Amino acid sequence: MIITAVWLMLPAYLPNSMAAVFGGGRPIDGGITMSDGRRMLGDGKTYRGLIAGTACGMLVGLLQMYYLSRSNSIFGVELPSFGDGAGALIVIFTLAFGSLMGDMSMSFVKRRIGYKRGAPLPGVDQLDFVMGAWLLTFLASPAWFLSNFTFSIVLTVLIVTPLLHFVTNVIGYFIGVKNEPW
Ligand code: CTP
Ligand code: MG
Repeated sequence: MIITAVWLMLPAYLPNSMAAVFGGGRPIDGGITMSDGRRMLGDGKTYRGLIAGTACGMLVGLLQMYYLSRSNSIFGVELPSFGDGAGALIVIFTLAFGSLMGDMSMSFVKRRIGYKRGAPLPGVDQLDFVMGAWLLTFLASPAWFLSNFTFSIVLTVLIVTPLLHFVTNVIGYFIGVKNEPW
C-alpha cells in the first residue's frame, strides 16, 4: 500500500523539493503588496521554482512510465499506471503542477492571515501540495483519479506524506536549500 501510494504521488512529491533546490529569482506575485499591507504570495513562490518543479515532477513521471513499459511491479508489488499516451502525460502534469498550485494557494492564504514567508503552519505545510495535486488531477482525469486513489490509498498518502515531508525538509535544511526545516 505504501509503495503504491508513493508511486502514484511521486510526480507530486518531487516538485516541492525541486522548487526549493532550483527556486529563486522573480517572484510570481511580482513583488505586489495587497491592501492588507502584506505580500500577495511572497518571495518564496518564484517562476523558476514553479517551472523547474513542474519539469522535475514530469520527468520523474516519464521515468516511471518508462519503467512501467518494462515491468509492472517493484519489490513484488504490482504498480498502477498513469494511463495511456496523452492521458498519462496529462495525469503526470496535473500531479506535478497541481502540487505547486496547492502550495502557492496556501501561501496566499498564509499571507492573508498574517503569516510571514517561511512561518510554519502545521498540517497545511505538509498537505497543501497533496490537495492541489489531487484537486487538479481529479478535475482533469476524474475516472483515472477515482480508480487509482481509492479510500485506502488516500488514507495511506495522508499518513505517509507528512513523514516524508518532514524527512526531506530536514535534509533540505541541512544541505542549505531550505531556510527552515519545515
Ligand atoms: N520555491 C520557489 N517557487 C515555488 C515554490 C517554492 O522558488 N513555486 C522555493 C523558495 O525558495 C522557497 C522554497 O522553495 O523558499 C521552499 O518552499 P516553501 O516552504 O513552500 O516556501 P516558504 O519559503 O516556506 O514560503 P511560504 O511561507 O509562502 O510557504
Ligand atoms: Mg514553508
